[in-house]
Formats: sequence, structure tokens, C-alpha cells
Amino acid sequence: MLYMKKRTSPKGLFDILPYGAKESWQTSHLWHEIEDVIRTITQQYNFQEIRTPIFEYADTFCVGIGSTSDIVSKEMYLFSDKKERSLALRPEGTSSILRAFFERNLTHLAKVHKLFYIAPMFRYEKPQKGRYRQHHQFGVEVLGSPSYEQDAEVIDLLFSFYQKLGIKGLCVELNSVGDAHSRELYKKALFSYLSPKKASLSKDSQRRMEENILRILDSKDLGDREILQNAPSILDYLSPECKEHFSGVESTLRALNIPYKVHPHIVRGLDYYNQTVFEITASDLGAQNAIGAGGRYDGFAKMFSGQDIPGIGFGTGLERVVQTMVAQNCPFREKNAPFVFFAPMNPSCRKLLIPMAKALRLKNIPVDIDLKSYKIQELLRRADQIGASFAVILGENEEKEKVIRCKQMSSRKETVLPLTNILSYLEQAWEERS
Ligand code: HAM
Repeated sequence: MLYMKKRTSPKGLFDILPYGAKESWQTSHLWHEIEDVIRTITQQYNFQEIRTPIFEYADTFCVGIGSTSDIVSKEMYLFSDKKERSLALRPEGTSSILRAFFERNLTHLAKVHKLFYIAPMFRYEKPQKGRYRQHHQFGVEVLGSPSYEQDAEVIDLLFSFYQKLGIKGLCVELNSVGDAHSRELYKKALFSYLSPKKASLSKDSQRRMEENILRILDSKDLGDREILQNAPSILDYLSPECKEHFSGVESTLRALNIPYKVHPHIVRGLDYYNQTVFEITASDLGAQNAIGAGGRYDGFAKMFSGQDIPGIGFGTGLERVVQTMVAQNCPFREKNAPFVFFAPMNPSCRKLLIPMAKALRLKNIPVDIDLKSYKIQELLRRADQIGASFAVILGENEEKEKVIRCKQMSSRKETVLPLTNILSYLEQAWEERS
């Protein structure tokens, strides 16, 4: 017999397991809870789900994210299909959503489109806690609404999502990267400020001075950060319209009681943004402390369709959300356990109980049935392990006497019932459960 060599997953990937996970954040029922909150909150804000494929033609991602961005220049998983077409695993959601939006002609179906997604993303990054080569994002994109109130609503949704999950130590960091004209003026001012200090900048930032100077503001290098402390602020270069938009976002956030800090160095690592940009950080997340981020991207849609449709959205990494919740001891609800565990003790009892299990399942009562062992100790241990409320035991003697044993697992109290009554007994117990 041939044994397969033990395989491992590629670096930077992880599995989400039902139990036995290396770290608790990798346990599936924690993810279900977050996904449930996503579905509830998006309904409350009237967002509709959109699902797109995990790969696209590579140029779908190059147009807006920017060829000098880390995502496009270093991190995309690129491959060719059999006809030598260049494809990429999706590194982020916004580009795919715009591609689908125009390709499937959603434009004329509404004036404002409020879309959300929960989807895996792929980036060839250096793996570390909170940074993986596959991560999952909950994201929203609003297309068609240019108002500053829309920006505030999107930030409010994200902030409220974290609050619903019980996450503490949240901080909204807000900035405006203005329109193209404001950015040109600012880039010149930043260039003048940095030019005499160029030799002291990190190698990466020296390169960025030529390629895309705004990215220097994102640098994590300590020397760069010190130099940047006295750099000019982009907020001083905003056009009057951009200033008005930004102060509108601020006043709406205040009206919604969302605490925020203006942070003029947030520029984001993707080129498509203009005007409002934001990041939300949470305590206890470590170095990768941006739990979610987004911004406005008016002008991006034009690259896909020629149509000028404004957009704003965010993406939040679910790995970082679960990790923060675990680190902060946020309350997770109990794992869903079956209400009833059927324990047949011989083949004929098994035959009798299988249809009963189905009858209860048809009434939406969660049931498990053991189809492996006939040993009572093993069966009861299993009922305990899975957290069933009742274990229902049927052996040869009970079958002869047409009765069945029903054990309430928490009190260990056992009731012997006529076989014909067991379903109605369990149905009533299900109705009355607290
Ligand atoms: P992003 O900032 O690149 O934005 O990613 C959004 C969030 O995804 C981050 O704040 C972080 O929580 C998570 N994330 C990113 N990369 C990784 C990684 N390697 N491992 C774990 N988590 C990660 C975007 O992707 C934009 N599309 C967001 C957006 C939507 N802007 C407008 N609409």
C-alpha cells in the first residue's frame, strides 16, 4: 500500500477548524458568530450581498490600485491559463466589485447601490500575526452617492459592527487626500520638504520619492517617521470643495457620536482613493493594528466604464477581528450543540431511531445519532462531549418493553417513556428550552 507523504499548507495560510485548532481564533464557530453579525448589520443598513470569483484578469486590479503600489508590484498571485491569459487571485475587493457592477449592467437598476461582501483575498506578503497570504474581508462599497453623509454612514457601519462584537479600544483615524489638483500641490510641497533630507530616508522611501511620493507617509521605518513628523499636512492643501466635504464628514461623525482623530499622514496603499480616507485601529492587535480601512474613490469607476460614478467603501480583515475579540476576551456565544443525541445499542434499535432523528430534524430540532458504537459508556461520553441536552437510549430490553430512556444531561435525571411518546416529549422540551 502506498502512503502519501504528510502535506503542509503553503506558508502564510491557515485552516479554520471545527475543533482542535492551534489557536482559538482558528475555530469555525467564532467565525460563524461574526458572519451572523455581518448579515444582521448589513440588513440594518440595507446593504445587498455581491459575490465575485476569486480570480480575475490581472489588469482588473492594476488599473486602480496602481502599478507602484505594493499590492500590484509585489504581492499579486499571478498565473497564466492555458491560453496564456494573465490572471490574478483577488488581492482586494473594490476592483472586482466595479468590474462586476459594470459588466453585469447594475448601473441603471438603482441610483445608489449599497453592496457588501465576505470574501477571501490573496496577497504575497511576509506572513506574521495579523498578516497572511490568504485573508478574509468583510467589505462594503456604496456606488452612486457623492455626499459626505455617505462617508460618515460607511464609517458608522464599520464602527457599529465592531461595537456589536464587543470590541473595545477603537480609534477612527481620519484624513482627506483631496482631489487630484489638491494632491499635485501637496506632492510638490512634500517634495520640497523631503528633498534636502533624501539621503537620510530609508531606501524604500528614496525610491518612492520618484515613484509615488505620498507612499512615504505610510512608511513604518522609524527614521522616516521622525523626518515625517514636521512634514507639511495635506489638509493645508485641500481645495475649498474638499475642505467643505471633509468638515461635513467630521460634523456628521460628531452627530453620530463616533469618536475620531484626524491623522494627516493616512494616505492608504491603494491609488484609487480621493477625498475621505480612514483606518480603524483596535487595542490588543499588535503591530498590524489596522483592523479595518477604506475611503472614497470617485473617479475609479471611470477607469472601468467611462461613467463617472462616485464610490466609497471599506474592508475589514476578519482574521484581525477574531484575533482582537479573543485577545480582548469579548463574549462569544456558545457553540451550537445538538439538542438530542440518539444512542441506539444494537442494529435493530438503530433502524428504529434513524427515522425518529429525521422526524425531529424536520421540526428544526438539532439531532445527532451515533452510527458507530453500541457501547453505552462510549455513547454517553459522546453525548457529553458534543454538549447535547438529552441523550435518548434504546437497547434490547427497552425495545422489548416498547419504552425508551431519556437522560437530561445537565441533571443526569433519567425518564423512562413509552416509545410512542418520545417524539412529542422532545418536541415539548425543545419548545420550553430557555
Ligand atoms: P486594505 O487596507 O488593503 O484595503 O485592506 C483592508 C483590511 O484588510 C485591512 O485593514 C486589514 O484588516 C485586512 N488585511 C489586509 N491585508 C491583510 C493581510 N495580508 N492579512 C490579514 N488581513 C489583511 C482594501 O483592501 C480596500 N479594498 C478597502 C476598501 C474597500 N476601500 C474602499 N472600499
